[in-house]
Parts: sequence; C-alpha cells; structure tokens
Amino acid sequence: MSEIPMVAARSAVKLHPRGRSFHSDVSTHIPTNAPGVIDLETMAPLQVDGIRVDLVGMWERAAPLLAIRDNDAHSLYALGIAASLAAALPEADPVVALPAILLHDIGWSQVPPDEVLAAIAPGGGRPDLVRMHEVEGARLAQEILVDVGHDAAAIARIVEIIDGHDSRVHALSIEDAIVKDSDKTWRVTPHGLDVVMEWFGLERHEALSLCASRVIDHLFTDPARALARGLVAMSSVTMWPQSAALGED
Ligand SMILES: [Fe+2]
Ligand SMILES: [Fe+2]
Repeated sequence: MSEIPMVAARSAVKLHPRGRSFHSDVSTHIPTNAPGVIDLETMAPLQVDGIRVDLVGMWERAAPLLAIRDNDAHSLYALGIAASLAAALPEADPVVALPAILLHDIGWSQVPPDEVLAAIAPGGGRPDLVRMHEVEGARLAQEILVDVGHDAAAIARIVEIIDGHDSRVHALSIEDAIVKDSDKTWRVTPHGLDVVMEWFGLERHEALSLCASRVIDHLFTDPARALARGLVAMSSVTMWPQSAALGED
C-alpha cells in the first residue's frame, strides 16, 4: 500500500541536462553575477547602508519553525519574490522587507497543525487562528532578529509588519506592501499551485483560477501586478491542450 505524502510534491524542475545537442562549450559566456539571479549565500550577510542583514542566520533559526505545510519552501520563494520587488522599488528598505517576508509565517508553528487549514480556507476560515499566527510570529521574529544581531530600528518595523501581515487590509509602508505582495504572489507560482492543489484537493486549473482571483486584483505594487500576471499566464499556457499535445521534446 502506498503512503500518502505528508507534504505536497515539489515541482519537477529540471536541474541537470539529459544531454547536449550543441557541441561547442558555451561555459565562458556564463556570467557569475547575472541580473536578477539571487543567491542567498552570497546575498547574506547582505550589507545595506552599513547594516548587516544575516538572512542565512535568520533562515537557520526560522526553518525548524516553518517545517510544516510547506511553509519553509513558501517562505524561501516569497523571499525571492520580495528581493525582485525590492530591486524594482528602490524606495523600499530591504533591511526591513527581506527579513519580514522570510520570518512572516513562523507563528504557524504555535497553532495546532490540524487547525491550520481551517484557518486559511476560502469562505471565512478562522480569523482567531490567523491572528494567533501573527502575534506569535511577531514574538518569535523579535527573538530571532535580536539573536542574529539585526539593526534595532529595523527590528521594530519588521515586528510591526509581521503582527498583522494577513489581517491588516492596508499596507503600513512600501516594505509592508512588498511583504503582502510577495506572500500573495507566491500562490500563483508553480510551487504555490502545487501546494494549494494538495491543500484543497483541486485540479491545477482549479487552483490557478482560485489563486488568480485572489491575487491579481489584490496587490499593492505595480511590479507585483506584472509579475503575478506573468506567472498566471505561464501556468495558463502549461495547461493549454496545444501545449500538452507537444509532448516532452
Ligand atoms: Fe501568514
Ligand atoms: Fe505566508
């Protein structure tokens, strides 16, 4: 009897080539710092205006608190989205926005696991549990940020963002807007659709329609709107019968 996986399957992203069609070596044309490519290890400790942003140290402390319901991968992908939005919105302070998105959901670790999906289900959910993960997340984030030696003024702003990141309908600042937009935009990434399918037992096209309806017209920033529309378009194309008929090669 096969076991039901405890976590949603990760997208089958190809990391290695199956072969090589062109026989000249192109490796000398591959830059080390290509625009838009983000490396957590070299981004951290990130220096912004002399302030050290130890994202790796934060991740090491947050990962055990996120190891449920794909919150760990959700947080990493949302961090990647936030980094791309921060690059497009130079008025935003990455010292606030990046730690806030990385740590925003650590409070779910304090909510009973069997009640988490009821808390976030469409059609009402459990606002008391959503609030609980915000309050507990703010408390735990404060501890982690102090532990890694983060800037004190930034900690206050990060904690304020996390405490209310889902229940608060308006954005406190451009950094809060980036956190909200990154959190939502993740839902229409390939990984987000994989996870939402498993949460609610939906076909991919159903998950895409559900998530697109809750993301596209609910974003604060123009870069996030463009990014989300692009992601929804790509997943739409994947499900076209014309695409499916093309096969693998
Ligand atoms: Fe959340
Ligand atoms: Fe989230």
